[in-house]
Amino acid sequence: MELTTEFCGMPLENPFILASAPPTASIEMIERAFQAGWGGAVTKTIKPDYMKIEDASPRFHALKEGNRVIGFENFELVSKKDLQYWKNGIKMLRQKWPQKTLIVSIMGDCSRESWEELAKWAEDAGAQALELNFSCPHGMPEKGVGAAIGQNADITRTITAWVSQAVHIPVIVKLTPNVTSVLPIAEAAKKGGARALAAINTVESLTGVDLKTLTPYPKVQGWSTLGGYSGPAVKPIGLRVISQLAQHSDLPLSAMGGISTWSDAMEYISLGADHVQVCTEVMVSGFGIIKHLLAGTLAYMEEMGFSCLNDFRGAALKKLTSHEALTKETKIVPEVNHQTCIKCGKCIIACRDGGYQAISLKEGQISIDRARCDGCALCMFVCPESAISHAKAAER
Ligand SMILES: Cc1cc2nc3c(=O)[nH]c(=O)nc-3n(C[C@H](O)[C@H](O)[C@H](O)COP(=O)(O)O)c2cc1C
Repeated sequence: MELTTEFCGMPLENPFILASAPPTASIEMIERAFQAGWGGAVTKTIKPDYMKIEDASPRFHALKEGNRVIGFENFELVSKKDLQYWKNGIKMLRQKWPQKTLIVSIMGDCSRESWEELAKWAEDAGAQALELNFSCPHGMPEKGVGAAIGQNADITRTITAWVSQAVHIPVIVKLTPNVTSVLPIAEAAKKGGARALAAINTVESLTGVDLKTLTPYPKVQGWSTLGGYSGPAVKPIGLRVISQLAQHSDLPLSAMGGISTWSDAMEYISLGADHVQVCTEVMVSGFGIIKHLLAGTLAYMEEMGFSCLNDFRGAALKKLTSHEALTKETKIVPEVNHQTCIKCGKCIIACRDGGYQAISLKEGQISIDRARCDGCALCMFVCPESAISHAKAAER
């Protein structure tokens, strides 16, 4: 079985690369990730030295389910390290790790010179490709960059063209999900000369309010600001964006958003992604998760009889159609496993007040009235014991 793949002409030894974020904030961290087995990395976004970056503290907040981080909010800005630091490090990484893919994420100010100079600098330093950060949703848009670029098709096309004309290496545009539709922005990036798209950056968010002080989180000396949401909670948004891009754009896709397991990654590839990037799960669990990502992917491919990623890349897209085209002639038939049902009554309440009043307790057992049931599947998702299944479908 083959995990190698390629992206814009760059070979990738496996489809897992680190996203531009804290895990790629230093050369030492990127090198440790390479040692651990990651196929490549996108550097934390690098900016010109004259752009001053000051981070607030704290700048993270998380929504948890038990001990697991489900959603992660941040308002961290871009790299605080200077160009000399990155230049030396990028050169060293390219020489020492030629088999790894090193993409440099950049962000200039609003001027042409700024983007052109930074792009040429990164190419000279040894970047194999550039990722243009047009998508950071917090802090940077106040300065007219980040998502302020990626929310405007004209500016996206203009800056992509400045950079594409300035360098010979592939230019990847990283898109924001914080738009009505990503498609006009993707099209603008392509017109500007982008060779590939990366998505998604974080989802603009406000994860909570401290009700004692009536202050939103994260609290910085009594104040807060909007942040960007990442981690498992944003995977459905990332999958949706990638499916739309795969259906409507012919550019290669670097996918991310909420990947924490091998199966999350395979879902993205089945929707047409060329490879995936990971950030939040590495921040929470460390570079070592690459071993599970690789082992799980290989086991899945073996079970499915796939010899390479292309065997199933984009396969799930073929099953994505319009609502109009979905059959309305069948409905699922819920079945209760009476061995595992604990008769907690959650399905009865949910069906009574959020469904079709089809579930009741009869002679001490959960009973479903097939004539009333509309086959919506709510009962299956509220059952704490997974005792309700919908394996069968019947004519309406
Ligand atoms: C703390 C933090 C800092 C980030 N910094 C950057 C950045 O400098 N440049 C960038 O393009 N994306 C940045 N991102 C966004 C990630 O690269 C990625 O697009 C997003 O987190 C979704 O992936 P995930 O769910 O795997 O985290 C950052 C994300 C986090 C959580």
